[in-house]
Amino acid sequence: MVKKKVSKKRRKKATDVSRETLERLITPKVKVSKRAKVGKEVEAVWKKAVKEGKIAKKEPVPPPVKVQKAEQIERKPPLWHIRERLFGMPKEETYNLKKHGPLVDLGAPKDVSYKVIETYPVNAPYAYIRIIDEPATHEYRYQVLEPRLSRSEQKLFKDMRTKLIEALDVDLRVFEEQGALLYLKNSTNKILKDYRIELGSVSKEKIMYYLIREFLNYGKIDPIMRDPGIEDISCDGPGTPIFVYHKKYESIETNVIFEEEDDLDSFIIKLAQICGRHISIADPLLDGTLPDGSRVQLTLGKEITTKGSTFTVRKFRESPFTPPDLIEFHTFPVGAIAHLWLAVEHSKSIIFAGGTASGKTSTLNAIALFIPPEMKIVSIEDTRELNLPHPNWIPGVTREVAGEGAGEIDMYELLRSALRQRPEFLIVGEVRGKEASVLFQAMATGHTTFSTMHADSILSVVHRLENPPINIPRILLKSLDLVAIQLQARVGGKRVRRMKTLTEIVGVDSRTGELLTNEIFKWVPSSDTFEYSGRSYVLEDIMNEHSWDEKRMAEELKIRQDILEYMRKKGITHYEDVAKIVVMYYREPEKLMKMVRRDVRG
Ligand SMILES: Nc1ncnc2c1ncn2[C@@H]1O[C@H](COP(=O)(O)OP(=O)(O)O)[C@@H](O)[C@H]1O
Ligand SMILES: [Mg+2]
Repeated sequence: MVKKKVSKKRRKKATDVSRETLERLITPKVKVSKRAKVGKEVEAVWKKAVKEGKIAKKEPVPPPVKVQKAEQIERKPPLWHIRERLFGMPKEETYNLKKHGPLVDLGAPKDVSYKVIETYPVNAPYAYIRIIDEPATHEYRYQVLEPRLSRSEQKLFKDMRTKLIEALDVDLRVFEEQGALLYLKNSTNKILKDYRIELGSVSKEKIMYYLIREFLNYGKIDPIMRDPGIEDISCDGPGTPIFVYHKKYESIETNVIFEEEDDLDSFIIKLAQICGRHISIADPLLDGTLPDGSRVQLTLGKEITTKGSTFTVRKFRESPFTPPDLIEFHTFPVGAIAHLWLAVEHSKSIIFAGGTASGKTSTLNAIALFIPPEMKIVSIEDTRELNLPHPNWIPGVTREVAGEGAGEIDMYELLRSALRQRPEFLIVGEVRGKEASVLFQAMATGHTTFSTMHADSILSVVHRLENPPINIPRILLKSLDLVAIQLQARVGGKRVRRMKTLTEIVGVDSRTGELLTNEIFKWVPSSDTFEYSGRSYVLEDIMNEHSWDEKRMAEELKIRQDILEYMRKKGITHYEDVAKIVVMYYREPEKLMKMVRRDVRG
């Protein structure tokens, strides 16, 4: 066999863009989710479990929008294309990073005194993020860097935008992604030809970027939406900079701003449209879901928020938080998670309560990973947030249609129909109103339920449940087993989430009618530690069920703590991997414990 000689000349001569710059200009492969190897044995047990679980009938999904494939559009050449062929107009040169140089200036302006912390691409070669440290305030700032348009390019962009709005006779959303892009490019080229506008390849590339950003993507916030480090984006009104929550730098101000009221209003209307919903001055509040699963909250005009329209985007997490994450973040002590694990395994009903964004839904999702895989689970939410690997999971979303009337399915109805599907586990995203009574009836008739609720203490949970509009009779409250209260706090200047208390509903005192509760775990803010009361009625219940003694129960808790520690140390934090380990424990505990002991107990 003859080895092919590799020519040394293959590598092209470097152009005016240096290698180093080039590397910075190109998007590195971003690993979206870290998956850890769980091993062949674990994989095999998981596969078997999934096969055995009877696959439930999925809910009928609405018919998809008609999608026009890219090829179909290509087949119909635009008029200018034909003209080009007939009259032999020259083909234009397209932009090339190596040849034409970068579109974005990444060098810091010379007259500023700030320190650059890091610069990274989010949509190379068009958009980059620069984190800087402002020496005056010692605050981090988030800068979006995009191609700069000259005054004439800016004017041309605005003209093109107006002309395109007139020219685009179809809603671009009916196309699949590539189709829409092609359609937009063709329409732009046609306008340029029709108006005999000649553009250099760099100018054209820059203007095209802004047109695509505007018509197909998220406009001004597009680079932020692409940044995997960002958790939420919030805009408090026109004329105020947008703030983001960055995984590494926390809450920071950006250089993105909607100066004009009108621009912000039309952006909000656009976001609503992307969610497939409608927002107007008459109906100025909206909660929606973007196609990638991110959630948005929008307000339009000055009726509700005096400063003007506002929006918040909560970015979708591809893999939800898992129990080992919650331990790693110090949100829960490992003992409390082991406790919750035993509770889920023994079908105890739980409410996760807390304030806005305290992490209720995330914790619910994490704890639900302890549900054995063969169980039938039905979930109901207003907007889709939960993500479970269980093959027998039927997710349901309430449907709100603009305006009252037919077609609307509310939580109450959805819950009643969910019960007809006889789930073993019922998950309700958030209880607010009359649906709570159905939830408690479900508990009383032997279903296990998990849900979240807006309340900051056990007292306020009980108060909200027993009073209008929910009105649960005290006797039904007994069916609830556990309430976990979560909060957002500052520890050492950092924003963190902590479990405030984990409390059991023990029963009702038959003499006084008082509701009896027992606090098992409590967070101590001053030391940022957790206290264990030493007594749990839920565990006593489980001990009675199996006739276990104290020693056996202690060992059961220890085993689960070891498995949790094992996952945390091994970096097994992806939700699918965690579920696999849990199944391995249910099915082949000895094998798993061997692996765990090797790693944890040494
Ligand atoms: N334990 C946690 N530690 C750190 N951040 C968290 C934690 N739980 C949730 N978050 C983050 O907090 C935000 C709100 O979480 P979510 O579960 O939706 O809260 P809630 O349901 O209480 O409104 C999300 O951005 C999420 O990524
Ligand atoms: Mg929530």
